Parts: sequence; C-alpha cells; structure tokens
Amino acid sequence: MKHTQFSKLRSIAPDQALEKARRAKEAGPAAIDATIGEIRDEHGRTLVLPSVRKALGALERKHVRDFGYMATDHAPEKFCESVQPLIGKHPHIACVPTEGGTGAMKANVQLVKNIDPDMPLIATNPGWSHLNKLVKQSDMDIRYISYMENGEPDVEMLLRFIRKKTSAVLFQGFGHNPTGSDYTHSQWQDIAKVMGTRRSIALMDIAYQGLANVPEADTKRIQTLVRQGVTVAVAWSGSKNHTLYNERVGLAAAITADESERKRVGQHYGEAVRIQRAHGPRIVATVQNEFGEEWLQDLTRVRSDLFKRRERLQKILPEELGQKVAGSGLFTMLPLRIEQIQKLEELNVFIADDGRINIGGIPLNRMEELAEKIKSVL
Ligand SMILES: Cc1ncc(COP(=O)(O)O)c(C=O)c1O
Repeated sequence: MKHTQFSKLRSIAPDQALEKARRAKEAGPAAIDATIGEIRDEHGRTLVLPSVRKALGALERKHVRDFGYMATDHAPEKFCESVQPLIGKHPHIACVPTEGGTGAMKANVQLVKNIDPDMPLIATNPGWSHLNKLVKQSDMDIRYISYMENGEPDVEMLLRFIRKKTSAVLFQGFGHNPTGSDYTHSQWQDIAKVMGTRRSIALMDIAYQGLANVPEADTKRIQTLVRQGVTVAVAWSGSKNHTLYNERVGLAAAITADESERKRVGQHYGEAVRIQRAHGPRIVATVQNEFGEEWLQDLTRVRSDLFKRRERLQKILPEELGQKVAGSGLFTMLPLRIEQIQKLEELNVFIADDGRINIGGIPLNRMEELAEKIKSVL
C-alpha cells in the first residue's frame, strides 16, 4: 500500500508517566509501582472503597438499563446536586459532568478563553504534568511560576505577578501533585485578597478531595476565594476519592452571582461537553446520596493509612532524605537524579522521572524494601 495522508501526521512522544506505569504493570507483582496516583490496598490491588462497593450493589439492584443519549443538563441521579455540597453552598452554581477532572479542567480553561483569550493563564511549577498538554490544546498562553522555595510552598512570586494584572490562576486543592505540600491558611488568605482586588479568576483543580485533609478543607478554601470577590471555577475529580479512575467521573462547576450568569455559563459548558457519560456519575451520586457517612469514614481510614505509609518511609530513609518526605495525601517528591531513578527501575522500583513517589501505590509492608532500594542508589 502506498503512503496515505496519515503519514503527514507529526509524531508525538509517548506520555512518560503512562509509559512508566505500563512498564511497572508489566514487571508484575514483584515490582514496586509508585508511578501514577492510584491507591492500592495492602495486597497491592487497586483499592475500591467499601462505600463505592455498596453503591454499585444498590445500582445493580435498581437494574438501571437506560442507555439513551444524555444532554449535559440531564445528569443522572442528580449528580451535580450530589457533588455540590463538596464545593460549597452557593445559590447559583453552573455545573456540568465531565470526563474526569481532566475534562472539567478543559471546560474551565475554555471558559476563560471565551471570557478573554488574552487573559494571562498562570500555573505553578512543579504541578500536574498533564496540564501542559491540556492548555496547549486550548491554544492559550500559560505562564509558570515557581511553587516551592526552600522546600516549602511559596507565594511571593505569584503575588507579585497577580497584583499587576487580572489573571486566571490554576490552583490545586489539598494533596498537591507532585509535592504533597499545600499552601498554609495565611498564604491562601493573601492569595484570595490579591485576586479579589483584581477580580481575577481562580481555576481550582480539586483532584484529591478528602485524601490529604477532610473534604471540608477544600470547600473552605473555595469559600475564602468567593468571599474576597474572586471568580471561581472548579474542576472536580471523582477518580481518586471514589476510586473510580477508569470510569472518568468529573464535574466542572462555576460559582456565579445570579441566575443570568449561571445560565450563560451553562450554555458555554454545554458547548464544551455536549453529551455526558452516565455510569460513573450515577455511582458517585449514589455514594453521596445514600452512603455519604460511610464514604467519609472510608476517607478517614485511607488518610490514616497514607499517613502511616508516609511516616514509615520518613523513618527508614536516611535522616536527611527522610525529612524531605513532607506533606500529606498521595504524593511526596524526593530530590533524586534521573540516573538514580533509572537505577531504581533496574531494581524493579518505578517512580516518576521528577522524583515523585505515589505513597498511595505502595503497601505499608513494602515501604522498607522501597527505602532500602532508594538507599542503594544514593
Ligand atoms: C492535580 C490533578 N488534577 C487533575 C487530575 C485529573 O484527574 P482525572 O483522572 O479525573 O481526569 C489529576 C490526575 O492525576 C491530577 O493529579
């Protein structure tokens, strides 16, 4: 066969993180897989929260067999309403179910572009590695500002920039990916004040709600912004906190001032998303509507497990490195060089190329092995 038009396509480098996760999977159960942010149980199996199992059982009994197209404003089982309390009690929220938190972020970046294509879009670095690609697709310019200074989150550079110009800034909720370290309460207050004065836009990326802190911690952060007059759009993900990764459940939500704004945002969300998935949103809505208390207890248990794993790693690494295992939630970032990370892979230990370790992926009883292997490449 002769070349077709497809030969003209530019080639695209594979996603490093997903490639590494694939290699880790292929290496089998002997491997320590600390790559992508999945939570695994003590046997190394992908965890399914008990409350989610219950919701699946309840849905099975209801025998839902409705496979018709679903427009964006007909979410199943009141999905948007069921997630809204996690975002906050605001009278006029525009919501759309999306394909994971990624789809929500896409819809929100598009919203900013539709408001003002020249508005500076700011993100912090290091941050979520997929963000770059996502923003590139939107064709907006993004500017990265350093997130850490002397091993801790820092806001000075960010404040300097956002004081000057009305901007759209991408923030993560608690459980920062990849560092595991979050802004303090007073840093957040400063950000809210400056952004409010400029009437800037906060694009909140809430992908780990309830896993690094209680769920209300994120809700309160959103409220602080709204109270200061910041325009807020949330990209909420149900992937990790409902352990439903491949169901791709997410929600974009914009906190608007009145019904007219809410309708307008709804139209733009509708254009960005059009048709939605049903099964994942149905599961999340059932968890929230029928098993909400159990879900909160599940998250408390997961947070406690993650904390124990983190603490174990901290204790058994050499002191100087152990001190770097900061933060909470799924991730921590160790200052390892790429050669050391490659050597770890030869030892069947898979961590991200930037030194990010997904603590959630490693059972407590394998922390010692991980620490020993890290020590051997130092
Ligand atoms: C910070 C951050 N935001 C958003 C997402 C996207 O989540 P989802 O898998 O629901 O698209 C992730 C996923 O890893 C993430 O780490």
